[in-house]
Amino acid sequence: MQDDEKLMAAAIAAMGRAYAPYSSFPVGAAILDENDAIHVGANIENAAYPVGNCAEASAIAAMVMAGGKRITMIAVAGGDGDLLCTPCGACRQRIREFGAGETPVLVGAADGLQRRFTLDELLPESFGPENLAD
Ligand code: THU
Repeated sequence: MQDDEKLMAAAIAAMGRAYAPYSSFPVGAAILDENDAIHVGANIENAAYPVGNCAEASAIAAMVMAGGKRITMIAVAGGDGDLLCTPCGACRQRIREFGAGETPVLVGAADGLQRRFTLDELLPESFGPENLAD
């Protein structure tokens, strides 16, 4: 299986672990790190709605806790395939922290991969760690 298909399959599997009783919109995310390790996450909602976490944030936390430092590629899966489940604005910035402009962002649904973006396409002219480096 190709890297991107494998990563999307991991994101789709992670969708099944979502805790989304309020939106009924499960989302899964899978990150390929600089060591070719895969880290997954799902959205975890909360009765106090704004406290919920997006799937991408969960996957980034899993990567960092496993020792991963860079996002080489990320896959996000959600929805019924009608509209693309592209990362929300806050998650684009979260991905930016550990990725680069050319980092592939794969978007899909339960059926599989739908579109392939680069992070630059989703978050052009972004602000990142380099801006704070001296
Ligand atoms: N959601 C994500 O997990 N990632 C995104 O990039 C878009 C939205 C979640 C948040 C919430 O639990 C549900 O999808 C509906 O917004």
